[in-house]
Amino acid sequence: MVQAEFVISAVSKRDFPHEGIPEIVFAGRSNVGKSSLINRLAGRANLARTSATPGKTRCINFYRINGGFYFVDLPGFGYAKAAKSAVERWKEFIEQYFQSRTTIALVVQLVDSRMPPTDLDLRLSDWLAKLNLPRLLVATKSDKLSNNQRSASTRIISNSLGGVSVVMSSVKTGAGCKEIWKRVLKAAAFIESASK
Ligand code: GTP
Ligand code: MG
Repeated sequence: MVQAEFVISAVSKRDFPHEGIPEIVFAGRSNVGKSSLINRLAGRANLARTSATPGKTRCINFYRINGGFYFVDLPGFGYAKAAKSAVERWKEFIEQYFQSRTTIALVVQLVDSRMPPTDLDLRLSDWLAKLNLPRLLVATKSDKLSNNQRSASTRIISNSLGGVSVVMSSVKTGAGCKEIWKRVLKAAAFIESASK
């Protein structure tokens, strides 16, 4: 059983928690499935709020997992209806997050398995690469693809993001979750031992 608890919905830098435990960050476009994946990994249906309406998560939400590390749910970017000023605020907030946290163990970047990475996905990927943090690329909603489509999609996504490996995931079937958990635990343990 995974123990998961909501910690805080941060609306500004001041709200970020100070425990200093490792952080696993989930980043990606709005509606790609960040909150759903957090729920699935935590084994809780309603820990993080999900919605078919894009732009649901507007804050940076922290969840404490097994008392040992955080899952951090970033607000999705690329929400079409968002005003330009909101997009700027979003960018600034996310930048503040990445600049001020020294305990980020892993950035899980989510892309939609049903389409090639979009311009926004590529920009996020470049931006994350510059931060020099360990990364895991996850392609969501793989339950919506056939086996053949899944292999093709894995290839396309990997190629367009510089040959990195991709984990195909689905919160419906649980595909990929074991592999993601493995990576999460390894990254959290590494950061913990490095900080001692
Ligand atoms: P924002 O909070 O707007 O950034 O979105 P998000 O990335 O947190 O997406 P969310 O988890 O809210 O999921 C968006 C929609 O996609 C919801 O309707 C989910 O049910 C659906 N969804 C997420 N993951 C999967 C999946 O693996 N398979 C299927 N079929 N649907 C999924
Ligand atoms: Mg969300």
